[in-house]
Amino acid sequence: MEALKKELLSLAKKSDGIFEKIENKDAISRISYDKIKNALDKYDFKGGVPLEEITEDVIQLLDKWTLQTNHPMHFGLFQPSVTSSGVVADALAAIYNPQLGAWWFSPAANEIEKISLDYITRKLGFDPKTSFSYYTNGGSESNFTAVLCALTRRFPEYRKRGLLALKKQPIIYASVDAHDSIIKIAHQAGLGREAVIRIPVDEKRRLDVGKLELQIKQDRQNDLEPFMVIATAGTTAFGVIDPLSEIASLGKSENLWVHVDGAWGAGFVLSENTRSFLKGIHEVDSITWDPHKTLPVPTGAGFFLTKHKEATKRTFSIDAHYVPDELEDRTDLYKVGLLWSRRFIGLKIFMLLAELGEENLSRMLNHQFEMGNYLRKLLVENGWEIVNHTSLPVICFRHQNHEFPMQMVLDYLLERRKCWISNVEYNGESVLRACISSYKTNKKHVEMLVEELNYALIHLPPHCLISFPQNNFCSA
Ligand SMILES: Cc1ncc(COP(=O)(O)O)c(C=O)c1O
Repeated sequence: MEALKKELLSLAKKSDGIFEKIENKDAISRISYDKIKNALDKYDFKGGVPLEEITEDVIQLLDKWTLQTNHPMHFGLFQPSVTSSGVVADALAAIYNPQLGAWWFSPAANEIEKISLDYITRKLGFDPKTSFSYYTNGGSESNFTAVLCALTRRFPEYRKRGLLALKKQPIIYASVDAHDSIIKIAHQAGLGREAVIRIPVDEKRRLDVGKLELQIKQDRQNDLEPFMVIATAGTTAFGVIDPLSEIASLGKSENLWVHVDGAWGAGFVLSENTRSFLKGIHEVDSITWDPHKTLPVPTGAGFFLTKHKEATKRTFSIDAHYVPDELEDRTDLYKVGLLWSRRFIGLKIFMLLAELGEENLSRMLNHQFEMGNYLRKLLVENGWEIVNHTSLPVICFRHQNHEFPMQMVLDYLLERRKCWISNVEYNGESVLRACISSYKTNKKHVEMLVEELNYALIHLPPHCLISFPQNNFCSA
């Protein structure tokens, strides 16, 4: 065991070294499909390739041809850099390979998860004794879990006979900016994609509660059966938080299950400075949060929380004679969630929380929040215009001179490969989007991003350069 510990700590050090190397490269590699294909041509799966050679090949492939989210100039779609504790955690999970579906199968792993789950649950304002939480693979699984629990709680006959037992079409509400996973979920649940009714947003792109209220009335008159509303805490495109408290009260009075999709944004409850943005989150029926979107942990770390323990049990409970009986005061996770076999997802979260502690974690989130503000300030000073309304570190912007085509700016930026940002549609117009998703992004990186943007403007084709932008960058 001592030897394993040493090897894993050495792996941690080595991965820190790899992260450092990535920082010194461009944020985007020049991808060549042909080269990837050529490098893989030798793999015909007849066997016999030594592990050393396979490992070498995979390292080469991933190192050259991956969008490096561990780069501080990656201003991505909620894909943070990771730390070495996550690497060690995933290696340990693979080595011991505990199966978390049943408590007796992996008591230590189940309890390691439980202690971190309870901590997060309390941070979100829920009582671990009366609520229920577990780790998932990510936001889609958590949102799906919420829909199935809401359906089962509201329509008891759904459990046995499915949607055919219902007299009316069940309806889910979500804003036009809510993540599209809900559409796939409605499809998978058998509700049909049109069961999701999109609610318009207000001038700050928050779900418009007045319009939701009217829609519910109209749908009831049309013999539809509203049963759920999804509020978003940190929309994917704009980082906007819907009015959680107002939606929670409307949900209560209209008998709707209120779910918060806080896949990215809910994580900001972990910092005292940013918690207040999520006011009302403890008033809802269930929450999605993805540690793999807000914290520096490898992908495959989602979290689901609900105050309806019984509904969750009714939704997923099953008796399988080939699985030993559940212990009296312990929960077998295969009876309360979508999955049967379960990986040790929570270890990386447990290890990160234990290693950093809440003060450092809070500092990390505050830093990202401050870098978001710094980027806003620099952009404005350099003639760019912020279009989205959020305090969280997602910044959507275009140039003050609306004639400048943002798509061309983006193409130019990506071609230079120094940083990765994306574009989103804002009121029918393509605007740029940068999210401070790496804890390593500091002032220097934010300045480099603005420099790149200004540089791209200068290099737009001549017909776009109506007035030459002044570079205020150095005075910032
Ligand atoms: C708000 C929101 N919800 C859900 C999801 C889906 O999460 P996952 O990709 O982990 O399934 C995303 C993905 O970006 C998201 O931004």
